[in-house]
Amino acid sequence: MNFSTRTNWDLAENDFAVAVRAARAAGTELLDLTVSNPTDCGFLYDTETLLKPLSQLEAMHYEPDPLGRTTARAAVAQYYRDAGADVAVERICLTTSTSEAYSFLFRLLCDPGDEVLIARPSYPLFDFIARLDDVRLVEYPLLYDYGWHIDLHALEQAITPRTRAIVVVHPNNPTGNFASEVERAALDELCARRDLALIVDEVFLDYPVEEIRPRSFVAGHSQALTFVLSGLSKVCGLPQMKVSWIAANGPDDAVARAMARMEVIADTFLSMNAPMQQALPHWLAGREELQQQIRTRMQTNLAVLDARLPGTQANRLVMQGGWTVVLRVPRTVKGRPFAEAALKQGVVVQPGEFYGLPEGRAVLSLLTPLPIWERGLAFLPID
Ligand SMILES: Cc1ncc(COP(=O)(O)O)c(C=O)c1O
Repeated sequence: MNFSTRTNWDLAENDFAVAVRAARAAGTELLDLTVSNPTDCGFLYDTETLLKPLSQLEAMHYEPDPLGRTTARAAVAQYYRDAGADVAVERICLTTSTSEAYSFLFRLLCDPGDEVLIARPSYPLFDFIARLDDVRLVEYPLLYDYGWHIDLHALEQAITPRTRAIVVVHPNNPTGNFASEVERAALDELCARRDLALIVDEVFLDYPVEEIRPRSFVAGHSQALTFVLSGLSKVCGLPQMKVSWIAANGPDDAVARAMARMEVIADTFLSMNAPMQQALPHWLAGREELQQQIRTRMQTNLAVLDARLPGTQANRLVMQGGWTVVLRVPRTVKGRPFAEAALKQGVVVQPGEFYGLPEGRAVLSLLTPLPIWERGLAFLPID
């Protein structure tokens, strides 16, 4: 059987994943500092309240609306209004995941072989989505200098006649940097001037480590056609519900033309289901309860980490938000790469290379339950 070259993946697990699986299979108790599935991290969900809207009669009525039901989209508009940003319901499209939202946008903007610019380091999921949609990802660098910054010069150099869009993750995963107001203005000007779309992934926007929450890219008027992505995975800690959205910003005419085409893409799949759209307004309205727990966990874990690191061979890179933290660590410990050496001690951390970070970086999840975090950090081979 001939399959598409698009699916010619090397499905072999990497050595590190094999080693973690082998350790688990051998019954070793592992202190996993990488858990990022919020439903596995010991948070309290008010299950009864959350499941209630799913049993309402409206959930039994099929009323397909490609961009999503108006009441559900209005709830997303309210989410932005709560943060002081106005976005019209007509500019919102619901999707069943942020991954699907990326896929809609790649199909909207790109022909096969067209290019999309993406930061390095960043989240490895994009490679798969782009490949499935026949899009070529081209990297632009983030620089670390008292915090992470977009290398705007290198970004502009990376633009070719095939470039269709720039992706910015705000705050980025795993580096945790928000796009600054200066970067934001520069990106808007650049995209408008070069006729590129700006795709801004804000799934972690509600999780800054400081009190001040940076602005969404839907706030204010952008010159460039801008698509903001977010969803319940992170906003409500409900990845199993599979609800996300795209919210557009930019000149009226460009947005209207984009939304008309997006509606056809969405209509082709009609992947949103009625019960989730019925429940979305209730879940979004109740989001603070879980967000508070997550922010408290992040603050506590950062404080424990910061108390552990002085006098060790590791230090923490500056981050502003999101669920991950990056440590600078020794490249090797007794001849082994750091993450393997940690595994020998029973501690799981992610090698930074998974995200395009240089060697000698480890990525940890701030959602890790506190007892595991404390013990795992104690055993980390950094002394
Ligand atoms: C930056 C970023 N975007 C998107 C996603 C995927 O979100 P979803 O579950 O909505 O597809 C993730 C998941 O961790 C992520 O880190």
